[in-house]
Amino acid sequence: MNLDCVHIGFEVISFFEKENFSSFKMANTILNEQTGVVDFFEKENDFVDFQQTLKINQHIAAENRVEYGDFQTNTQLTEQICTLLKNKNINPKILLEPTCGKGNFILSAIKTFPSLQQIFGIEIQEKYLWQLKFELLEYFLQNPTANKPQIHLYHCNVFDFDFKQVKNRIKNHELLVIGNPPWVTNATLSTLNSTNLPEKSNFKNAKGIDAITGKGNFDIGEFISLKMLELFSKENGHFAFLIKNSVIKNIVFEQKKNNYPIAEIEKHTINAKKEFNAAVDASLFFCKFNTTPEFTAKEFDFYSSKQSVSLGWVNNKFASDIEKYKKYQHLDGVCPFEWRQGIKHDCAKIMELERINGGFRNALGEEFELEEDLVYGILKSSDLKEDTIDRSRKYTIVTQKKIGEETSQILERLPKTRDYLLRHKEHFLNRKSSIYNGKPMFSIFGVGDYSFKPYKVAISGLYKQTKFTLIKPNGTVLLLDDTCYFIGFDTFEEAQKIQNLLNQPETQEFIESFMFTDSKRAITKDLLMRIGFKNRHITLKNNQLTVW
Ligand SMILES: C[S@@+](CC[C@H](N)C(=O)[O-])C[C@H]1O[C@@H](n2cnc3c(N)ncnc32)[C@H](O)[C@@H]1O
Repeated sequence: MNLDCVHIGFEVISFFEKENFSSFKMANTILNEQTGVVDFFEKENDFVDFQQTLKINQHIAAENRVEYGDFQTNTQLTEQICTLLKNKNINPKILLEPTCGKGNFILSAIKTFPSLQQIFGIEIQEKYLWQLKFELLEYFLQNPTANKPQIHLYHCNVFDFDFKQVKNRIKNHELLVIGNPPWVTNATLSTLNSTNLPEKSNFKNAKGIDAITGKGNFDIGEFISLKMLELFSKENGHFAFLIKNSVIKNIVFEQKKNNYPIAEIEKHTINAKKEFNAAVDASLFFCKFNTTPEFTAKEFDFYSSKQSVSLGWVNNKFASDIEKYKKYQHLDGVCPFEWRQGIKHDCAKIMELERINGGFRNALGEEFELEEDLVYGILKSSDLKEDTIDRSRKYTIVTQKKIGEETSQILERLPKTRDYLLRHKEHFLNRKSSIYNGKPMFSIFGVGDYSFKPYKVAISGLYKQTKFTLIKPNGTVLLLDDTCYFIGFDTFEEAQKIQNLLNQPETQEFIESFMFTDSKRAITKDLLMRIGFKNRHITLKNNQLTVW
């Protein structure tokens, strides 16, 4: 089969992907129905060769898709976005699409804005630029009288691109920076060993434990958005980028520090499942350049233009629903207790146990005996569904009472536990996180005196629900894993009072007013530490808590 110089378009490729023909005969029947061509594949070998070529391409395409955060915006959406901008009386002379892909934004902009004089498009995947060039040729062949801006297309890495050449040509003309930057995080890229990253890859400046545990994680789209704002927000013009909601939240959050001259900030929520078949929350981020800085964004439904809430800064505090926040801001403060994360072991197969036949069973299905000394019941996020809990489904081995404690001596006394752990030493040695480097064998994290407080008020860090659960001991103290946050108490009464205060409608509404449900982790320690209990019958003197 000779496919040299044959261009197989995206639609054709996705047609074959979707149909996934299981036989030569079936392919020919369906292709005959679709095209009228009799014996589309003359020989069975042609069909097999074609399937093979497609498979190799699919594999490369799938890898590229992840690495390049490649979610091309469909024409209908790019046209709707350009129309929304036109309805705001935006008439750009210069357009910049910093990661233009196959260029649907560029094509829609040419059709929508007759004012355009120059267009700049940058893209790392060459095939897309070729597709765009041929589509432009086709468009202008069909529409010879259409406005024809000068179009500069660069096959280039946006992180290496010298934006001076765009800046030099702006000369006070109205600019529109438009697009949809890659949807991928630096963490994903590092698992792919990809170099598709800006040089300054720790641009969040996360240090120490924060860098290890992910506070330094960022979306490539966030880096590119901030770069655009840094470079162009002093020009006359506008910015319209499709980005994840979490990135929009971060841009508005960082605006306090960055103070970019941007205003009229808007977030228009799209249905990313429908538009991109992607399970993320995303929106069109819009703002005006070269104006007095603003620090809040109005939220709209993209399709109905209906306004919902506003997010952003109020009196030096950040809120997801400004109106609601204003009602409850008297509760904002610093929590008098320290919210803690539960136990982290990164060794679920060996450390998550069930009780069975008087002994234990691990996630590998092995059954064995252990001394009871280091065994504690442990609750995970998914267990925190009830108002009060006093038993656990799972158990774990608490090898240390505080971080860094030597484990060898304790284990000396407990031969069954020691043998079990030693038998699975490899699992501990293979833990990826660098927090375990140089620590005693079988080390765990998220452990301290607070872990062993008998009563706890806890919440899941994985789910978006804001109800708090009271944990009571049942013979022994129950622990929580690192997907949960908790405060420990010595008495039931104290724990119950705090749980009641936290679950009051007023507190719940307050939490909702600054929680971002579309973040990957909506409940964080930072969020919990903002629940100040001001004037709420609590005093903490000399480390002694009084709840009254
Ligand atoms: C989410 S897609 C969107 C494409 C286009 N903006 C659109 O709206 O259809 C992101 C695009 O960024 C491109 N890309 C990824 N990394 C890039 C880089 N380092 N430099 C330039 N383009 C890049 C991808 O190839 C892909 O075409």
